[in-house]
Amino acid sequence: MNDKTLLNVKSTRRQVLGGAAVAAGVAAAGTFVPTRFAIGAQANVKIGFLLPYSGTYAALGHNITDAFKMRVAELGNKLAGRGVEYVMLDSEAAPPKAKDNTARLILKDKCDVLVGPVHSGVAMAMAQVARDEGTLTIVANAGADNITREMCAPNIFRSSFSNWQSTYPCGSVMLKDGIKDAVTITWNYPAGKQMMQGFKDSFLPGGGKIVKEILIDFPSVEFQAHLTEIAALKPGAVFTFFAGGGALKFINDYAAAGLQGKIPLYGAGFLTDGVYQKAGAAANGIKTTLHYSDALDTPKNRAFRQNFESNAKRPADVYAVQGYDAAEMLRVGLEATKGDLGAQDKVVAAIEKATIESPRGNFTISKAHNPVQDIYLREIVNGEEKVLGVAHKALADPATGCKMA
Ligand code: PHB
Repeated sequence: MNDKTLLNVKSTRRQVLGGAAVAAGVAAAGTFVPTRFAIGAQANVKIGFLLPYSGTYAALGHNITDAFKMRVAELGNKLAGRGVEYVMLDSEAAPPKAKDNTARLILKDKCDVLVGPVHSGVAMAMAQVARDEGTLTIVANAGADNITREMCAPNIFRSSFSNWQSTYPCGSVMLKDGIKDAVTITWNYPAGKQMMQGFKDSFLPGGGKIVKEILIDFPSVEFQAHLTEIAALKPGAVFTFFAGGGALKFINDYAAAGLQGKIPLYGAGFLTDGVYQKAGAAANGIKTTLHYSDALDTPKNRAFRQNFESNAKRPADVYAVQGYDAAEMLRVGLEATKGDLGAQDKVVAAIEKATIESPRGNFTISKAHNPVQDIYLREIVNGEEKVLGVAHKALADPATGCKMA
């Protein structure tokens, strides 16, 4: 962290603490005891969600939240004997608001644990504040490679993936499919750029060529001119990352532009997750890599999907899995200390050595606190997702620059 950032974090702390003190009012002078310092198994664990509940990523935030709560409900609405309460704050997937929002959850709302976010830019700001404050944080989506590389910290875990991890296997898949060159198209922010890098890290050394790299401002969905250009370039394939509302629009526009079936479409699995059901026939033929598939035919995944659908009245997807597993990681950590979050070293050690039984299949946690997990190859066939196989077994992010690793 540079001096300027440190100053910013400290001034955010002052600002938020100032607000909190006013809000606490007379109680502050009397018996007010912040939840995060409460002792014993009786106080509720307060969990702060910093997730998008509006905008192009809104569905992602809701699935993470609902599946997290579902796991806690399966545990009798308790974690290691402690009741659980939630604060939900809309991140708006807006990096400039992330530092203040995180500080607010920690300092004003007195959350013991943070869960979120979805957006890589939000995650980097959130992680800085969480690291400074020492608050246990589980990143339940954002793939920013930095979080489990140079920014890694003892109190920060990820239940999801690194951006690199989600796409690195896909370059080899495409080469095996006989693809010789590709156009990449994604949003111009860390997640998009890092996912394209992961793809290139296997595609280029294997002899693949990049014809053109297209970057679009986040969260714009103005794809038309770019699709016209791709049609003219006639690459062997298109490789992409979009997610949520933007992914649905991209799939539909790709088909409407007449490219479906002509130029094979590949990408990070976020392109189709939670989206292909709405896209219908336009999604047919899309091949992606991801650490989860709806179609994994295991008792754990079947039960998870059934419970989620009957609770939420919509299908589960990778985001729901990551929320569910964030709660499971927290359970493992808290049970090691009978619910005492003050013994953070022990909580951290327990999560580090756990094998998490997940709907995606069991995974372990790397020394940099990122899942070590199988990456599946999936295809949408006749409106349904199929698992074609494991594209990379037990893939770990390189964790470059992480001092804990
Ligand atoms: C990210 O910004 O890290 C991100 C967002 C949405 C996804 C995946 C990654 O589906």
